Amino acid sequence: MISILVLLIVEAGTQGADWFVTFENPDPCAVKGSSVEFRCSYSYKDGKTAGETFWYKGELKKGKWERVKLSDLPSYENRSEYVGDKQQNCSLVLHDLQRDDAVHYYFHFNTKRFGYRSKKSVYLSVTELRARVHPDRVRAGDHVTLECKTSCSLNRTVWYKDGRKVTKSTFQAQAEDAGKYSCVVEGQESVRSDPVTLDVYDPPMNVSIEVSYPSILTEDSSVNLTCSSSANPAVKHYTWFKRTASPNSRDSSLIQVASGQVLSVPAVEVSHTDLYHCQARNIVGETNSTEVVLTKHEGLNHASLHHVILIVGVGVAVLLVLSLVIIWAWLQTYLGKTSHQRRHKP
Ligand SMILES: *[C@@H]1O[C@H](CO)[C@@H](O)[C@H](O)[C@H]1NC(C)=O
Ligand SMILES: *[C@@H]1O[C@H](CO)[C@@H](O)[C@H](O)[C@H]1NC(C)=O
Ligand SMILES: *[C@@H]1O[C@H](CO)[C@@H](O)[C@H](O)[C@H]1NC(C)=O
Ligand SMILES: *[C@@H]1O[C@H](CO)[C@@H](O)[C@H](O)[C@H]1NC(C)=O
Repeated sequence: MISILVLLIVEAGTQGADWFVTFENPDPCAVKGSSVEFRCSYSYKDGKTAGETFWYKGELKKGKWERVKLSDLPSYENRSEYVGDKQQNCSLVLHDLQRDDAVHYYFHFNTKRFGYRSKKSVYLSVTELRARVHPDRVRAGDHVTLECKTSCSLNRTVWYKDGRKVTKSTFQAQAEDAGKYSCVVEGQESVRSDPVTLDVYDPPMNVSIEVSYPSILTEDSSVNLTCSSSANPAVKHYTWFKRTASPNSRDSSLIQVASGQVLSVPAVEVSHTDLYHCQARNIVGETNSTEVVLTKHEGLNHASLHHVILIVGVGVAVLLVLSLVIIWAWLQTYLGKTSHQRRHKP
């Protein structure tokens, strides 16, 4: 048993002593679009410097193992860069990584007498950065977590929001945190994940009612109540409530009367015992307005104002006509006098 083990080690040792190729990291992983370096060293006893050196790409195609020189592949033109030498460094850099680059790579070198190809290979994995934000719709004050996913372990990831570095990946969202987030691998800032959006929503605020009375409150006219609010997203659901105070007791009955931003109350229903309020609701919350009470007076005030305008108008017209009549009468008598005088001049 022990002798077999010793024999194997010696064999491996002798094989390694003749020549070897070693890869620092035989299964690197890199982000699509970024660059990767296959750090590689080699040694041989056969001569002082190697002749040709090249890298192969190996993949299984239709059940057959195919190896192709990178220099023969147009898709690697300008993307592969041999940064090694003819003696011991055989490192290769691949730029602008594509999904298809996820295959095996081999190093090959020729000496005066023989060609050597690495027995082992570098297997490259190409991953994409997937940014996520949990949850993606929050209210101000809610906790948010940013998550950058990759299919293999990489360096630390860093976050950017609208072009600026984000220091924390977990925080309590405020209105100004809304925006587009993307992650990058530290040291490879040129490759960003697709952005993800965080929406920070506000419940309705400043909910108020505007009352518009018709100019004349007649039996068939109506008073309109309009509810408004500021919210994000904008309020789409408004509900109206009417509370009727009972004159005999302190009790009051509350009923839901309508929905929609505008409530029309027929003049005949206007009563000083009715209190109206609206409720504004969006996806994050609901808020009530204060109560308003309608009066028959408002409309009547407008009506009496009209009467005043009418009376003043008629008055002015009468005065105008009267003064014209007076002027005309005066002119008549004056002109009559002068003509009379002229006629009697000698
Ligand atoms: C490589 O770069 C050269 C010079 O810039 C260019 O002419 C050629 O089209 C490029 N090849 C590929 C495959 O992009
Ligand atoms: C609510 O109204 C107040 C006073 O008019 C104003 O200062 C504030 O900015 C308003 N808030 C919103 C969210 O519009
Ligand atoms: C109230 O709304 C109705 C329907 O939109 C409209 O016909 C009427 O003129 C409005 N009245 C007032 C006083 O704004
Ligand atoms: C708003 O008004 C409705 C109806 O009166 C009531 O049920 C609800 O509790 C009120 N909400 C708040 C926050 O006051």
